Amino acid sequence: MLSEKTILTVDDDDTLLEILEDRFKKEGYSVISCRGSKEAIEGINNHVIHAAILDLVLPDGHGFDVLEYLKELNPNCPIIILTGHATISTAVDAIKKGAYDYLTKPVSFEELHRKLKQAMEMYELRRENVVLRAKIEERCQFERMIGKSDVMQKLYRIIERVAATDATVLITGESGTGKELVAHAIHRLSKRRDKPFVPINCGAIPEELLESELFGHEKGAFSGAFRTRPGRFEIADGGTVFLDEIGEMSLKLQVKLLRFLQDRKFERVGGTRTIKVNIRVIAATNRNLWEAVKKGSFREDLYYRLNVIPIHVPPLRERKEDIPLLVEHFLSRHCQTKGIPLKNIQSEVLQCFERYSWPGNVRELENLMERLVILSEGNEITLHDLPDRFLTKEERGSAPFRIKLDEKGIRLKEMLESIERDLILQALERTGGVKNKAAKLLGLNRTTLIEKIKKFKIQYPS
Ligand SMILES: Nc1ncnc2c1ncn2[C@@H]1O[C@H](COP(=O)(O)OP(=O)(O)OP(=O)(O)O)[C@@H](O)[C@H]1O
Ligand SMILES: [Mg+2]
Repeated sequence: MLSEKTILTVDDDDTLLEILEDRFKKEGYSVISCRGSKEAIEGINNHVIHAAILDLVLPDGHGFDVLEYLKELNPNCPIIILTGHATISTAVDAIKKGAYDYLTKPVSFEELHRKLKQAMEMYELRRENVVLRAKIEERCQFERMIGKSDVMQKLYRIIERVAATDATVLITGESGTGKELVAHAIHRLSKRRDKPFVPINCGAIPEELLESELFGHEKGAFSGAFRTRPGRFEIADGGTVFLDEIGEMSLKLQVKLLRFLQDRKFERVGGTRTIKVNIRVIAATNRNLWEAVKKGSFREDLYYRLNVIPIHVPPLRERKEDIPLLVEHFLSRHCQTKGIPLKNIQSEVLQCFERYSWPGNVRELENLMERLVILSEGNEITLHDLPDRFLTKEERGSAPFRIKLDEKGIRLKEMLESIERDLILQALERTGGVKNKAAKLLGLNRTTLIEKIKKFKIQYPS
């Protein structure tokens, strides 16, 4: 039998060993019965043991020795101590040393079997958890998020845990870090996934309109309210509402929102009927909301209501190891949607990205990749294609001189001399021939400039 589990039983009582062997075999286990610690150690050395039942008082030693030996070889093997009343305190010590549980004699087979199954299930679960964790650790993509850095792995785990609850979440992070993606992921992984996800940008809607957007309005509630209209909270019933840029909400509306969060009840604007909905609220902000509380522009009580579970999305500069993955992702996506063959990216460009601080985070990278796909010539994206802000002073200076080296080759010395000569002339022209100034423009000292002028026989004015 493939799935047969092997149980090690260790006891000085022959009759008990026989009964256990007989009954466990009937249950489909394979059994190794041992009368003392020496036999037990032999058994452990020669078999894969899935669980052990261990008496502590043995004729040739102590059960602890067997326990420790087995634990060291196989830390995930459940061990149940079977003991007489006299040795209960020792049995407790055995648990401290890693035994799963103890039972006192006499014990029914059923009880022992039940305990053993429990122990094996628990260890199995633990093992699966370890495997699962290992799998999560290799994740490069989670929902629609890309990133394999430690901070992203941590974020994925938090999202999974939070998605299983109904708690209100406050997502913080700089602009473009992926706060909306996080909110989406929480919704999609939650039991509300088949119900609506309703985002609303509190910063983009004027205050008067925002109230009726959220809570809806009755016909005639204000001029222009020609018919009754349900708000986003009603539309989202059963699902999730995403209150983006919550920091922009006016103090007046904050009061209404607080009231709503307390009992999930509200009235439409201009209405009297109380409406109750079942929604989860996720809020996000790129502002420091706590600072806003201190300044008095955000209510402290609302802050606590929203900040039940805080999730911080790290800026891109704190997870630069994710940049190549993101580049690859956006590059292939933009090439695909534009129907052009996949472009290469020069390694210098990636180095440049590594240095850059990405104030606009992933959004900035995404937009840049789109621009590069469109604007770069040929099938490679090079330093030439990058906007100036990405380049160091030297690269900015050298980029226009980049000369492609092809099969024909070049005459390096002559080429460099002609570039040098040209730049010196330009510097002289620009400074009206004042050598001090020209030298400064070129990053040279005056003597070196004069030497070069002589060497290249530069005449200025010509
Ligand atoms: N980890 C990521 N993997 C792939 N794409 C991402 C990731 N993070 C963000 N993006 C993309 O970057 C863009 C910005 O993300 P999103 O709108 O979620 O950011 P945000 O934090 O809500 O920004 P803002 O504060 O400006 O509203 C989106 O197009 C999103 O798809
Ligand atoms: Mg957003």
